[in-house]
Amino acid sequence: MERLSWSAAGADLPSACYRSPAPWRWVVVCEALSQRVRPSCGQGSDADAAVFHMTQGCCAALRKWRLGPNMPGMKHHLYILTGASRGMGLAMAEQLLQAGHALLCISRNANPALESAAQKAAVPLTQWTHDLADGTGAAARLSDWLEDQNPDDLASVSLINNAGVIPPILPMSQSQPADLAWALRVGLEAPMALCAAFLGATQSWTLPRKVLNISSGLGRYAMASQAGYCAAKAGMDHFTRCMALDEALQDHGARVCSLAPGVIDTDMQVQLRGAAGEAFPDQAKFLQLKAHGQLSSAPQAAAQVLAFLGRPDFGDKPVADVRD
Ligand SMILES: NC(=O)c1ccc[n+]([C@@H]2O[C@H](COP(=O)([O-])OP(=O)(O)OC[C@H]3O[C@@H](n4cnc5c(N)ncnc54)[C@H](OP(=O)(O)O)[C@@H]3O)[C@@H](O)[C@H]2O)c1
Repeated sequence: MERLSWSAAGADLPSACYRSPAPWRWVVVCEALSQRVRPSCGQGSDADAAVFHMTQGCCAALRKWRLGPNMPGMKHHLYILTGASRGMGLAMAEQLLQAGHALLCISRNANPALESAAQKAAVPLTQWTHDLADGTGAAARLSDWLEDQNPDDLASVSLINNAGVIPPILPMSQSQPADLAWALRVGLEAPMALCAAFLGATQSWTLPRKVLNISSGLGRYAMASQAGYCAAKAGMDHFTRCMALDEALQDHGARVCSLAPGVIDTDMQVQLRGAAGEAFPDQAKFLQLKAHGQLSSAPQAAAQVLAFLGRPDFGDKPVADVRD
């Protein structure tokens, strides 16, 4: 059995990886904890079991190895997706669990069913539990993580800023400044910070890079009692326009788009239908959309959004609507 060398970061860690002669067969040994895992083949999602027992440092090294040069010929399409624990983000993550893909998901909660599905599909999945109200911290973490990746092992890399929140649905005069600040931090500041980290850390990479920001029709049309949400999405649209201009000046600039995904049957719609009617003059519209079956399901919306991301003209228009 051949001992694989760890990445530089993991060289002195108390774990080792051995590859058996058969391609893809390998054994992970966490010597410090005497944990041994024998995944049968391939991208070995069983390794996550070992990761679970390892220290943070070992974990980083193993993940680097998994996506790294020790898997000859295997180039991954890497997707970084926020808000994948439920709603449309979860549906996107589920649909992205395909051979040749790798996912990094970020939300406050991890989704155990997604983890199981990834293991079954043998797709490398990492779930970070991070509150995107701390966009700066998330961006720093992403930047460090990306710097540990080897672009030679990747076929493409995409950042999908999907997480978003609606603050309490109230006119501005009744809104709490802290609620407005929170919605803007999660819905605008964090996507901007993640975009900056992503574009900065991958700037020298020559492979296809994409940023998909999930916006809303409400970034383009004003609605009473929705100032916080509308402002976050309008800001997202406009910073994406600026970012598109920046990237157009680069040799291998990223393709970027702020996309309205349609109206989707998720918790967010439950929140809109459940708002106090007297404070929300448009509430009847949302009740009718549900009553008349006019909402997209999360899987339908996710499929449309991912198809949009895969279009050859993705990024031609920095602000778009999936229904275009
Ligand atoms: N639903 C619609 O009709 C509709 C229409 C237009 C646009 N959109 C946009 O589409 C996107 C997805 O919407 P959705 O309806 O799927 O929403 P959702 O069901 O409410 O799910 C929101 C996702 O964002 C994550 N999230 C929320 N707050 C977070 C925080 N502070 N830190 C990290 N993650 C956080 C949630 O995970 P955790 O709770 O685990 O953190 C969850 O995974 C949003 O950007 C939304 O604005 C939705």
